[in-house]
Amino acid sequence: MKILVLNGPNLNFLGIRQPEIYGRESYEDLCCLLRREAERLGAEIRFFQSNHEGALVDAIQEAYRNGTEGIIFNPAAYTHTSVALLDALKAVSIPTVEVHLSDPDSREDFRRVSYVRPACMATIKGKGFAGYVEALHLLHEALNRP
Ligand code: DQA
Repeated sequence: MKILVLNGPNLNFLGIRQPEIYGRESYEDLCCLLRREAERLGAEIRFFQSNHEGALVDAIQEAYRNGTEGIIFNPAAYTHTSVALLDALKAVSIPTVEVHLSDPDSREDFRRVSYVRPACMATIKGKGFAGYVEALHLLHEALNRP
């Protein structure tokens, strides 16, 4: 199982940005946690974070080219604005789980819309780092289903 963990803008600042919302652990802590869990499941896992919309589109297209089987995607602020990311996910048809550390639906009104959601098999929100682990398990089950 080949998985890409894709994170959007400002998620490299985990631990620094609004810890009361996003927690005190860093982006590296998140990668460490997921790397350990992937190892346990026997999955190959890669990480990419960018503050640039086009770079995220490129990463999704690259995932198609290199045979990635599942994507865990927190598009961060681009969740609420990006038709380009929706189109990229639809173009590659790689099973994708949308993840948010916080629950955007219980925050400002503008966070209630997710452009990427229609291209995702599930959305996990409001569970912090545990949401990413849950997404990994979801993909693991879905991809190993006979
Ligand atoms: C986020 C929620 C978004 O609304 C916000 O712009 C982020 C992070 C989350 O993980 O809770 O940057 O995706």
